[in-house]
Amino acid sequence: MIAFDPKGAEERVRIVDLHPDLGDLREEAREGLQRPQKALPCKYFYDALGARLFEAITELPEYYPTRTELGIMSGKVDEMASAIGSHATLVEFGSGVGLKTQKLLDALIDPTGVVLIDISRAALEASAYQLADRYDEMEVIAVCADYTQPLRLPRPHRPSARTVAYFPGSTIGNFTHDEAVSFLRRVADLVGRGGGLLVGIDRKKDTAIIEDAYNDALGVTAAFNLNILRRLNEIGADFDLGAFCHHAPYVPSEGRIEMRLVSNVEQSVRVGNATVMLSEGEHIVTEHSHKYDLPQFEAMAREAGFRLARHWSDERDWFSVCFLEVDDAEA
Ligand code: AVI
Repeated sequence: MIAFDPKGAEERVRIVDLHPDLGDLREEAREGLQRPQKALPCKYFYDALGARLFEAITELPEYYPTRTELGIMSGKVDEMASAIGSHATLVEFGSGVGLKTQKLLDALIDPTGVVLIDISRAALEASAYQLADRYDEMEVIAVCADYTQPLRLPRPHRPSARTVAYFPGSTIGNFTHDEAVSFLRRVADLVGRGGGLLVGIDRKKDTAIIEDAYNDALGVTAAFNLNILRRLNEIGADFDLGAFCHHAPYVPSEGRIEMRLVSNVEQSVRVGNATVMLSEGEHIVTEHSHKYDLPQFEAMAREAGFRLARHWSDERDWFSVCFLEVDDAEA
């Protein structure tokens, strides 16, 4: 094995900027609001205020996914680390290097390096230096890119045994089935032969438990949802936030929560130079959050060229962390 020379945090961080297309909220909103089922892209929830509201959601008593996943990580992280093996390169999607990633990194046996991928360069740099500070022998590569698009991964200088991606939080549930399968395919490509993916999924369960998690008594999820309209107002729309209410039903036929903004009245709204008509009771869909059972998720993984190697769940089977390995017969 090549000896690694521990250097200062500055020297161990490599930034690779692929200049991702940041999208155009005004244009995507206008297009989404003209569809028969009006919709807005959920990626626009996360401005500075939206990110703070999401943090608050994760602390709500009703919102079980974050603390359930964290509990699984706390109890089983050593098993996960041994399933991953030593000298692995860890790839993390999204730059919020939270407690779960730290738990995983603390447990991994001599990881070769970490690659962070995120669309926001500022958030990415902050996380990369924070990580390099905390793990003083690890190379950190920060890739500014849109991970929903194909990309090539820069490699750490030290040779690694395998590349394993980490996608916690059940964020995969925010993709449609087809988007999730193409995302998984891209991950399989990215990690290559022998690679893996550790992914958190929210499980199907009693409808009332799921609905409470997305319709909390304090109204934090409602504020998170309405924030997307406030953002649109900053760029030329004239939504009256009081004329909409938050509603997030579980749709059993689709196996998902639908985050909706329901128009309280018949109204017209200006979005840039377009006018959008809403009737009383009509809703705009702002997010899907899919809930899975294990066979269904396994089938999806298989469709994308992975096999389900192991999985860990809480005692109520509310959430699972799945370890997928690239199916070498497929690669
Ligand atoms: C980020 N994502 C996994 C959250 C979820 O549960 O689907 C976003 C969220 N939406 C409302 N509450 C939380």
